[in-house]
Amino acid sequence: MKLLVLILFPLLFLFFAALTSGQSTGAAAPAPPGPTNLTAILEKAGRFTIFIRLLQSTKVADQIYTQLNNSNQGLTVFAPTDGSFSGLKSGTLNSFSDEQKTELIQFHVLPSYFSPSQFDTASNPLRTQAGGSEELFPLNVTASSTGNQVNITTGETNATVANTVYTDGQLAVYEVDQVLLPRRFFVPLPPPPPPLKPAQSPESSPGFGAPVVDSSSDANRLYKEALRAMACAVFVLASFT
Ligand SMILES: *[C@@H]1O[C@H](CO)[C@@H](O)[C@H](O)[C@H]1NC(C)=O
Ligand SMILES: *[C@@H]1O[C@H](CO)[C@@H](O)[C@H](O)[C@H]1NC(C)=O
Ligand SMILES: *[C@@H]1O[C@H](CO)[C@@H](O)[C@H](O)[C@H]1NC(C)=O
Ligand SMILES: *[C@@H]1O[C@H](CO)[C@@H](O)[C@H](O)[C@H]1NC(C)=O
Ligand SMILES: *[C@@H]1O[C@H](CO)[C@@H](O)[C@H](O)[C@H]1NC(C)=O
Repeated sequence: MKLLVLILFPLLFLFFAALTSGQSTGAAAPAPPGPTNLTAILEKAGRFTIFIRLLQSTKVADQIYTQLNNSNQGLTVFAPTDGSFSGLKSGTLNSFSDEQKTELIQFHVLPSYFSPSQFDTASNPLRTQAGGSEELFPLNVTASSTGNQVNITTGETNATVANTVYTDGQLAVYEVDQVLLPRRFFVPLPPPPPPLKPAQSPESSPGFGAPVVDSSSDANRLYKEALRAMACAVFVLASFT
């Protein structure tokens, strides 16, 4: 028993020594290189709980993480505070489908980096991450030349940038005082052009022996209609003789 303790004790001592030295070198090492973590930035700032929850549930957070790693374009994020979410008309968020929630969050992200003063020269409307490569979810940003004041309008929401939360030349995160609602969630796009008028069927053609043939571009059908018309004419003529 004594022997066991004599052997075990130094072993345990070595084990703990290794553990603590490992910890201390780990703490001294610089942060692991890698893409910036938007979620961590927002968590640190506080006051963005709902936006973070939506970033995660819609998987837009993962998308942003990958984009920051794989592109040099940078990103700009407009982060609405918990207060601005509670400012929404009640039931607004719940009225959106899962797809719309994803679009809503992507609508708050611009696919390039903007410093506050760069908004002054940005050409509106700006494309957001929503709607893929198509410009279906535009928003306008206007800024004073100093970038001191930045306004955003979606046609549905007018918002103001209240604060710069984070900026590193790659990622810019701005606090906004309103949830930016896409116009097209409320005003549908103009309807697509109506489908071509269907060709009139011979059964519904008016009159006897006068099928409407000019509504069909099908040569084969034209030919058949002509035959039919001829047959009818012969029949009419025959009934008179
Ligand atoms: C980013 O940070 C959040 C919060 O600290 C963490 O939960 C998440 O795992 C991090 N994401 C990545 C990809 O490291
Ligand atoms: C970042 O991108 C590189 C290649 O561009 C890839 O090898 C690496 O796994 C990516 N890292 C993360 C954390 O996604
Ligand atoms: C932003 O909006 C406010 C209030 O509507 C207005 O007074 C101000 O001139 C606007 N600023 C810019 C830079 O558009
Ligand atoms: C955004 O700006 C463009 C170009 O100036 C303008 O045509 C459009 O009406 C603006 N949209 C809104 C919602 O202000
Ligand atoms: C946004 O601002 C424009 C111009 O200042 C105004 O015409 C419009 O009514 C405002 N919209 C909302 C939803 O406040």
